[in-house]
Amino acid sequence: MKVLNAAPNHAKLVEWVNNWAAICEPDAIYWCDGSKDEYDRLCNEMVDSGLAIRLNPAKRPNSLLFRSDPSDVARVEARTYIAAKTKEEAGPTNNWIDPVELKKTMLELYKGCMHGRTMYVIPFSMGPVGSPIAKIGVEITDSAYVVANMHIMTRVGTKVLDVLGTDGEFVPCMHSVGKPLENGATDNGVWPCAPIDKKYISHFPETREIWSYGSGYGGNALLGKKCLALRIATVQARDEGWLAEHMLILKLTREADGKVKYVTGAFPSACGKTNLAMLVPTIPGWKVETIGDDISWMKFAADGKLHAINPEAGFFGVAPGTNYKSNPNAMHSCEKDTIFTNVALTDDGDVWWEGMDGEAPAHLIDWKGNDWTPDMKDADGKPVKAAHPNARFTARANNCPAIADNWEDPEGVAIDAFLFGGRRPSTLPVVYQSKSWEHGVFIGATVGSEVTAAALDVKAGTVRRDPFAMLPFCGYNMGDYFQHWLNIGKKEGANLPKIFYVNWFRKTADGKWLWPGYGDNSRVLKWVFERCDGEGDAQETAIGYLPTMDAIDRTGTDVTEEDMKELLTVDKEGWKKELETISEHFQKFDRLPAELEAQRKALAERLA
Ligand code: GTP
Ligand code: SPV
Ligand code: MN
Repeated sequence: MKVLNAAPNHAKLVEWVNNWAAICEPDAIYWCDGSKDEYDRLCNEMVDSGLAIRLNPAKRPNSLLFRSDPSDVARVEARTYIAAKTKEEAGPTNNWIDPVELKKTMLELYKGCMHGRTMYVIPFSMGPVGSPIAKIGVEITDSAYVVANMHIMTRVGTKVLDVLGTDGEFVPCMHSVGKPLENGATDNGVWPCAPIDKKYISHFPETREIWSYGSGYGGNALLGKKCLALRIATVQARDEGWLAEHMLILKLTREADGKVKYVTGAFPSACGKTNLAMLVPTIPGWKVETIGDDISWMKFAADGKLHAINPEAGFFGVAPGTNYKSNPNAMHSCEKDTIFTNVALTDDGDVWWEGMDGEAPAHLIDWKGNDWTPDMKDADGKPVKAAHPNARFTARANNCPAIADNWEDPEGVAIDAFLFGGRRPSTLPVVYQSKSWEHGVFIGATVGSEVTAAALDVKAGTVRRDPFAMLPFCGYNMGDYFQHWLNIGKKEGANLPKIFYVNWFRKTADGKWLWPGYGDNSRVLKWVFERCDGEGDAQETAIGYLPTMDAIDRTGTDVTEEDMKELLTVDKEGWKKELETISEHFQKFDRLPAELEAQRKALAERLA
């Protein structure tokens, strides 16, 4: 086995890496330094080997296109495990296998899995290097695609090793795309992966370890993101009294007086976090800037407020639906230095996806590498998609024109409001405010959403409960997680964020959007801002505080008075059905806090 460069002076880390090298038997070990040279070299190697396509530098400078195996396009929730010591500890919402048994199974798979490949070692920091809120991980991987993505999504390399020193703590993250023999697709321009029943995305919360096998896709393979920054971090946050959440973070400025509020939002995967974080207000006098688009780590500071950092350094954003009208800042973010995955390729070497500006080109190469024309239909007569619905762009946060100048503040930003939301075509109003912290926790615990394409194995289109948008990301018993949120509210001297529910996805009877969404969501943000200061007109209803009819400015939209009424009423019949499904949802929990059941009863009484 070749060692391509010198190992760092950290005995425990080197021993961990050598141990895995002995199991996986790579051709070589390479310690990543995080430099631009390294990034360029790996990208060129992937282009030369046919794994990546370099996009036309005149159109899309310094950018690559990757196509995955058609089976490896999203997270796989059924193959994601929380291997706590006991099943109870993992709780009713997580898959569980006994950790000893799981390690035995996975070690068999890892044995010799890196033959013919290089083992990359990536030291990375989640959060600004050296921030008191940041955490360090080290990922082993046999995928150069993963290394390149980690370069964009996290802070990597020598500067992280410097902070680690000779004995600093790190979260060990083990990853392999799997044995080449399990998939014949290694040489035809897609990355290798294991068949579904051999994929494992495993977390060992007690020992803070991550073992991932058989997938090269984002959330399964970029282990700093969902695996470390959410599943492992939730366990640490529980033990240490802070919050690790699936939340965007935005900075909202009222230009008239320069007053600023920081708002976070937890919406399930592919439900609008990136879009809200980068929103361009359609109402004058307001400014939105981005701190983060997917993950928020929050700790109490001396002022009693929760201070949030974005542990990431880039965006792994949903491409389809993104265009210069809906999200210009995301489009600008991926104009250069971007990795595209499973989008379509244009004849002039640029990218395309469904929902991009303008008409579809007359000819494309689709995400599977086939010729594509706009008139193509599948066996069921449905249009063939040029890009996969979960196609993604990996872009640098610093390339986003809306990035706030304090987005890397190591102390974080003081949060004023939490938003919860999901895709709900009926019943749920466009916005309402909780009556109290406990009621807000109830709202978070009962978030529901129509399922999207972000995970492979859940049926798209149906509504499922996704508490706090954390259903796939909570690393321990979710009943205990609810209790943790309740406990945060009991912290002495705390100055807590106000809690709101938002729903951009109401539909009319004929299936059209009732609310314009995107930049027009600034109209709702304005009300949220005002409510944080005890302003903004509201009426107390059975479900919480609703804006009065005039409290949300709709000038310049085509939202009629009738539409607004529908968006802001308490639909009693709808809510009764909602209560039934909330009861069913709560029955699944073995450790549901009594306060949440009391909230459910109180809501039922108010609605009766
Ligand atoms: P993850 O990265 O999977 O966590 O997703 P996300 O929550 O960041 O979702 P994103 O902002 O990428 O949005 C996903 C999809 O929802 C895109 O296709 C958007 O076009 C669409 N979307 C976002 N905001 C709105 C909105 O206000 N209204 C409507 N109708 N669609 C929206
Ligand atoms: C999500 O699915 O919520 C994402 C993409 O943000 S992934 O990193 O794949 O989890
Ligand atoms: Mn996400």
